[in-house]
Amino acid sequence: MQLATTDTGSGPSLVLLHGFPLDRTIFDHQTQVLARHYRVIVPDLRGLGASPPTEGVYTMTTLADDVLETLDALGVTGPFVLGGLSMGGYVALELAARHPSRLRALMLMASRADADRPEAAANRRALAAKVIEARSTEPVIDAFLPRVLGESTKQHRPELVAHVRTIMQGASLLGVVGCLNGMAERANHTDTLQGIKVPALVLCGEEDPIAPISDCRAMTQSLPQGRLEVIAESGHLITMEQPESTTNAMRGFLDGLSA
Ligand code: MLT
Repeated sequence: MQLATTDTGSGPSLVLLHGFPLDRTIFDHQTQVLARHYRVIVPDLRGLGASPPTEGVYTMTTLADDVLETLDALGVTGPFVLGGLSMGGYVALELAARHPSRLRALMLMASRADADRPEAAANRRALAAKVIEARSTEPVIDAFLPRVLGESTKQHRPELVAHVRTIMQGASLLGVVGCLNGMAERANHTDTLQGIKVPALVLCGEEDPIAPISDCRAMTQSLPQGRLEVIAESGHLITMEQPESTTNAMRGFLDGLSA
C-alpha cells in the first residue's frame, strides 16, 4: 500500500515512522527543523492518520513493505536514514533485518527489539477484541494515553495530553485492531541488532515505562555502532514531550554521519 506521506526538504533522505496509535504529526517539530538539511519523509502507517485501513493483521513485515512501496513511489532508491518511534521502531527493525542494504543509519526511539511475552500478547489481542465489540477505539485510548506520556507531562501539560488524545482519536478502528494483533505476533529482533553495521542512535525517555533506560542501554550495547541518549523529563512520546532536545539529539547524530 502507498501511504499518505509528508515529503519535505532536500538533502540525504530521512524516513521517520510513528508509534501506535498515533500518526506522522508526532514528528512535526523534527520534520520542520530537519527539513532544512535533509529530505524528510514521514508516512502515516496503514490504518492510522490519513492512510487507509484494511482488514486483517498488520504484521511488522506488512507495515515495512508499505514503507518500501511508498519510498519506491517517491523515487527514493539509495540508502536512507531510518528512524522509528516505538511501534515505528519495531517496523524499522523488521526493515533493517530484511533489507540491510537500504539503511544508511538507524534511529530507534523509545522502542524495543524483543517480542511481546505471551501475557502481553494475550493482553493486546484481548484489547483488540474489546475494540471490535465496543465498535470504538476508546478502550485503546484509555489504555495507551496514560502509558505514552510521562508523569511530568501528565501533571503539568494538560494541553499536550488533550492534543495526543485528539491524535489517537484519528486512528481507524480497523487500523487499531490490525496494529494490536500485528504487534502481538512480531518477531524478536534482539539478535538482529548485532548485525546492524550502520551507525545507530537509541533515544530513550527518562520516564518511559514501555522502553525503560535499562532496556535501551542493553539494546545500544548490542548495536555495533550504537549510541544512547536519554531525553530528560519525558515519557515515551519524546518527540512531542521534549521536541527541542529530541530534535537536537537527532540533528547531532545526522550531522555526524556526513562529517
Ligand atoms: C507505541 O507507542 O507504538 C506503542 O506503545 C508500542 C507498544 O505498545 O508496544
